[in-house]
Amino acid sequence: MQVHVADHPLIAHKLTVLRDASTDSPTFRRLADELVTLLAYEATRDVRVEPVEVTTPVAPATGVRMSNPRPLVVPILRAGLGMLEGMQRLIPTAEVGFLGMVRNEETLEAVTYAERLPDDLTGRQCYVLDPMLATGGSLAAAIQFLVDRGADHITAVCLLAAPEGIARIESELADLDVPVNLVIAGQDERLNELGYIVPGLGDAGDRLYGVVD
Ligand code: PRP
Ligand code: URA
Repeated sequence: MQVHVADHPLIAHKLTVLRDASTDSPTFRRLADELVTLLAYEATRDVRVEPVEVTTPVAPATGVRMSNPRPLVVPILRAGLGMLEGMQRLIPTAEVGFLGMVRNEETLEAVTYAERLPDDLTGRQCYVLDPMLATGGSLAAAIQFLVDRGADHITAVCLLAAPEGIARIESELADLDVPVNLVIAGQDERLNELGYIVPGLGDAGDRLYGVVD
């Protein structure tokens, strides 16, 4: 797996405000959205394009257009939804599929509770959106799900990742015959005893949308 940690002062600035416990939900949502658009530029570096001829007011020119099938963007509900618009801003013609996953906060195991994706993803490039890569259970399961349906290129876009989560993805998906890229705004120190990223930003879903229980 190729890991790309964004190195840009604007990303670092926005991430710092996002982490701050005093940042309210509307501001958190806006910053998450802006951060994803900045990360999307790097994440789509490998997006498939094909040559196309156009005629400018001056002369013919050869350019590129995005290839078919279109990329599929897959936000992991709930928190990944807060990243969708930021991604669509950069690739508006991408299709969108949904995976609902929740981590059991006692066992830290990810459970899939919803899925709305094409049955056949053969030859599709997929962009998985999830703000937090903590133990890696949710992202590993999501990637495996997409590859089982035929996806042949995966890029995960996360805001923060723990080293333990990155290591788990690398070992669990080591035999995968599909390239996997991870683009993150920051890599943090570790997980705490509750499976939260330290220093992290807390529970991303709660900070975006409020506490459910
Ligand atoms: C959070 C986060 C990831 C997951 C990461 O979701 O958005 O999906 O935890 O943890 P992991 O790497 O240990 O699997 P959560 O389960 O809290 O659900 P939510 O998005 O509905 O809040
Ligand atoms: N999920 C979150 O939302 N935050 C963490 O730190 C870990 C898992």
